[in-house]
Amino acid sequence: MDRIVISGGSALEGSIPISGAKNSALKLMAAALLSDQRLTLRKMPNLADSRFMAQLLASLGVEIEWPVGADIAHLHAGTVSSTIAPYDLVRKMRATFNVLGPLLARMGHATVSLPGGCAIGARPVDLHLKAFEAMGADIVIEGGYVKAAALRGLRGAHIVFPFVSVGATEHALLAATLARGETILENAAREPEIADLAACLAQMGARIDGAGSGTITIQGVDSLSGADYSVLPDRIEAGTYAIACAAAGGDVLLQGARFEDLAALAERLEAAGAQMTAQAGGVRVRRSGPLRAVDVDTQPFPGFPTDLQAQFMALMCQARGVSHFRENIFENRFMHAPELMRLGAEIQLRGNEASVTGVDHLIGAPVMATDLRASVSLVIAGLAAQGETVVHRVYHLDRGFEQLEQKLSRCGAQVQRLRGSEPT
Ligand code: UD1
Repeated sequence: MDRIVISGGSALEGSIPISGAKNSALKLMAAALLSDQRLTLRKMPNLADSRFMAQLLASLGVEIEWPVGADIAHLHAGTVSSTIAPYDLVRKMRATFNVLGPLLARMGHATVSLPGGCAIGARPVDLHLKAFEAMGADIVIEGGYVKAAALRGLRGAHIVFPFVSVGATEHALLAATLARGETILENAAREPEIADLAACLAQMGARIDGAGSGTITIQGVDSLSGADYSVLPDRIEAGTYAIACAAAGGDVLLQGARFEDLAALAERLEAAGAQMTAQAGGVRVRRSGPLRAVDVDTQPFPGFPTDLQAQFMALMCQARGVSHFRENIFENRFMHAPELMRLGAEIQLRGNEASVTGVDHLIGAPVMATDLRASVSLVIAGLAAQGETVVHRVYHLDRGFEQLEQKLSRCGAQVQRLRGSEPT
């Protein structure tokens, strides 16, 4: 297993190109199943997760041309040869569950393994399934699999989500494009990835209004065509490097990042003593003065993203004062806290709340990544710490951060990957 070794203390200066958004790319890839024509996706992130989704789609009969390292992928579901997504492929990454809706909408039936739990919480799929039932599907859960059938096709429905779910909104949106009649999604998630998915689907011929707002209306069509679409820039990757710059100090241009997707983070960073501004070509981040403690309350978009909570906690470890965190989206998302404490952070946990008392400096130590966003928070802490930090289990990082060491190194950070087995 690879490790990442960081020698802390260097400020970040330079520019970092932001990749296409992982969370959007995965759903856009699933959209390929809705059409028998070719979907070309540009700005594709080369990540373990997106490659993994390609593997699942290929097992369903989708022809995929996506050379290693390339950021353009062609997906062609001329025929769907299987409607079964097996346990072995779905358990590794939850977003693969999103093939259920497109298969059901196009083929009238699908059997997809339940994604199961994951490190940050139970993460059920009940809202996804209720949406499909409202659209006329019969759903049975048997032997760990969801068996869904709508043999005469899905029909439009009025779906009111009891709380905001990104995955359920995207999944219902995908399926509704081919349902008979009108579907209205209320209390829909407003994340930028939803508008991105809707824009691609619209290019494929779907009729969608209101994506990006709390109410989305879809008029089903008989079939969808192909499209040539560019994935939006990854706001979580951009936000992560913004926080890294705030933690290490310096001045960095996040090339291609969209300020409007990062407004909640910009506001918190400003309060903490770093500046984030929209600039031609991207977003600029600077920090030279001291860091102040600020509170963070995670919320659905446009609130502060849960996917940046761990990174912001790493930042607050060296801020003046006490900062309070409340994690409102996932029930078990403070696994980075004990690892940050290994670097000398002072953190107290109470259920979904954490208090961080800033210390003068963190000191490098070996730490272990526990999930995707937690792992990058340890890299951020390592950049700001004195001495050497070694992050183990970096396969978590590779799920969501493309060329992390290279992107940080070109801004002056001392970060390198050691390949191969770990010492026992
Ligand atoms: C997506 C993102 C993830 C991000 C999250 C919240 C992808 C691949 N992942 O995850 O990075 O952290 O949005 O911004 O895009 N829930 C239910 N029943 C359901 C569905 C969700 O109870 O059927 C709960 C979840 O357990 C969680 C909350 O709703 O507590 C929000 O989850 P959701 O917005 O669905 O997150 P994901 O789509 O899984």
